[in-house]
Amino acid sequence: MDGRNARDDWWRHAVVYQIYPRSFADASGDGIGDIAGIRSKLPHLAALGVDAIWISPWYPSPMADAGYDVSDYRDIEPLFGTLAEADALIAEAHEAGIKIIIDIVPNHTSDQHALFQAALAAAPGSPERELYVFREGRGTDNELPPNDWQSNFGGPAWTRVPDGQWYLHLFAPAQPDVNWRHPEVRAEFEQTLRFWFDRGIDGFRIDVAHGLEKDWELPDLDGLVFPLADDAEADHPHWDQPAVHEIFREWRRIADEYSPARAFCGEIWVGRPHRLAAYLRPDELHTAFNFDFLMAPWLLGELRSVIDATIASHAAVGAPPTWVLGNHDVCRPVSRYAREQAGLKPMARHLDDFAELPADFDLGRLRTRSAALLMLALPGGAYVYQGEELGLPEAEGIPAEALQDPIWFQSGGTEKGRDGCRVPLPWNASGDSLGFSPEGSAAPWLPQPSDWTALAADAQDGVPDSTLELYRAALKLRHQLDELGDGTLRWLDGPADTLVFTRPAGAGEHRFECWTNFGVASVTLPQGRVLLASGDLDADGNLPSDTTVWMSR
Ligand code: GLC
Repeated sequence: MDGRNARDDWWRHAVVYQIYPRSFADASGDGIGDIAGIRSKLPHLAALGVDAIWISPWYPSPMADAGYDVSDYRDIEPLFGTLAEADALIAEAHEAGIKIIIDIVPNHTSDQHALFQAALAAAPGSPERELYVFREGRGTDNELPPNDWQSNFGGPAWTRVPDGQWYLHLFAPAQPDVNWRHPEVRAEFEQTLRFWFDRGIDGFRIDVAHGLEKDWELPDLDGLVFPLADDAEADHPHWDQPAVHEIFREWRRIADEYSPARAFCGEIWVGRPHRLAAYLRPDELHTAFNFDFLMAPWLLGELRSVIDATIASHAAVGAPPTWVLGNHDVCRPVSRYAREQAGLKPMARHLDDFAELPADFDLGRLRTRSAALLMLALPGGAYVYQGEELGLPEAEGIPAEALQDPIWFQSGGTEKGRDGCRVPLPWNASGDSLGFSPEGSAAPWLPQPSDWTALAADAQDGVPDSTLELYRAALKLRHQLDELGDGTLRWLDGPADTLVFTRPAGAGEHRFECWTNFGVASVTLPQGRVLLASGDLDADGNLPSDTTVWMSR
């Protein structure tokens, strides 16, 4: 690991690998991934060359939303292991030079959390109910929800309890929203931050960070669509409320008490770059996911404008940009890029958004490899979702009876949701669960596609043109070349249909260039040395369609 990763501002350039613990590696043999499995794969992560890992929620949870329904923020889910194992993982990751970020879910708890259970047991109007969002309904007999807000997973955002009151849940009914106006809620979460910071965690990924504050008058949406089209529109009553920034200023003060200072990455869906950047002012969050990049179609003009807008908006607040192609909530990029890119609807990101379109998976993989090299050459940090380094596609054929995402249930079986990107990883080309669990274990919690053997990590290990070796080589070069990581970008004039930029770094003899060809015909590369290519160059050494190279000139 290079010296940059030992610096306090490691988050300005880090490649962060997302671990979805249910699906990463299962050591206990119950078909569900666990902390022991993560520990066993640390050598894979160190060899890959990632700077940090982010672990999706590992807390005790009834698993109504795969762990994003937390019933105790200061312990470990027994399916995943114990606090002692978490401590061991933190220590071992640090020994390997890898930082560790965990998920915090502050918008809602599980309905099994002690505070929500106490609220249910207490009377309407009691102090216990104040910690959540309980209201009387509308209609003659309280029989209608208090307003027209909808759950993100489908259906009304309100559920009625036996005494007649309703509670708010922007996600599943098993995920009641908490009342961020209440000092006890703030104190609870601050205690959780400290609990994990004290155990050596390097930072948090903040779930639904733009949702914590609401317009507490709880007005109807009346058809208001988010993201809002422009600033002239009325505020949205439950996304991106201005008061949310004060919460993160307080969290930043806490992170800064530690040495080295701890870092935050926000999950913030706000649509417009300057609204996102507002969360990244110097006294707020350090970084945020760049979902505009993730959702941008594989088209030169659209990608370039997202890159420009990202860099400009982040520079305005002094924050490093980040780049991301996938996560546990969206269709894997191989399958997204396998579809015709022109005409994808705005915000298209779930398999359900384009499952009907014809798919060319070889093309999808070619473009994804190209996108990965492009992304890893851009200034700032990057996120790699587990399995991207293997080139996994979305599992599109999971049978209905195996689906588990609450979206599937709350949409009444009309939307498959996110299970297709959450399928347990193939580690070995042979064996019952492709090495996900020990032989003879329970079946993986989601079925693995039968054609994943060639994509298994051990089938790609040491194979020069494999996706795994491409990622390893790219991350190695990121550590070796001073130009890569944080810094600036300068566009260069390339041939038609190419995106070409350099990453200036002082007065080096050589200059780094990243070339991507979005056109149909191959283009001639300039004099220089090709450091890495996302696919084969053609016989004349020219850059074919949908291919990216890193060059030293
Ligand atoms: C975030 C998570 C997602 C979860 C939701 C509710 O968007 O990434 O997986 O379902 O929040 O917690």
